Amino acid sequence: MRRESTAGKFITLEGAEGAGKSSLMSAISEWLAARGLEVLASREPGGTPVGEVLRDLLLDPKHPITPMTELALMFASRAQHIEEIIKPALAKGVWVICDRFTDSSYAYQGSGRGFNLESISAFEALTIDNYAPDLTLLLDIPVELGLQRAAQVGEPDRFEREAMEFFQKVRAGFLARAETEQRIKVIDASADKAAVERHALLLIEQLWLSSEQARA
Ligand code: TYD
Repeated sequence: MRRESTAGKFITLEGAEGAGKSSLMSAISEWLAARGLEVLASREPGGTPVGEVLRDLLLDPKHPITPMTELALMFASRAQHIEEIIKPALAKGVWVICDRFTDSSYAYQGSGRGFNLESISAFEALTIDNYAPDLTLLLDIPVELGLQRAAQVGEPDRFEREAMEFFQKVRAGFLARAETEQRIKVIDASADKAAVERHALLLIEQLWLSSEQARA
């Protein structure tokens, strides 16, 4: 479902561990701010006080969490985030950039944990009325390379403890989703940082130009 067009635009970044989402988030925020736009950077799970508590629960390896609880908490965090932060910001003309969103639920809970995709889309319809980004950048990277880059300092979180096979399924899940959703643009994140940034900013520029045209 397409959202009503809003004054601000909603961009999400997706991809596996070590794909370089964080540094790209900063580059995009700076690019947009340099064009006079107000930018809000957020993340999922999280992004609100309640969402951050849910995030702590979800990432903490101490708690055994069933796959269904995990799926439900991801969408609970998202429902809160949309109402409390995302919708009001977009209505005011703020551009929102979010580190992960619903496509992560399709990839991690769907392809990774094995929920069928219809279950995920049922959750998506019920909890967030299919609220979708304007543009999603999928940073795609071979699993081994991503894990090497992400080589964790400190304790790995509950997801980072998963086996290589899990991350292979997640990657395949993201790529399959990109085939069906036109708003998802795949970026080769194994390229060097400057090339990844150039590709991403070109896509951001297209969205910005079309929003400027719509306003004119
Ligand atoms: P995060 O620190 O954002 O991971 P990364 O640094 O790799 O972006 O932790 C979020 C974790 O939550 C990440 O492993 C992916 C997972 N996740 C899901 O499984 N489903 C979801 O819907 C979302 C938003 C995240």
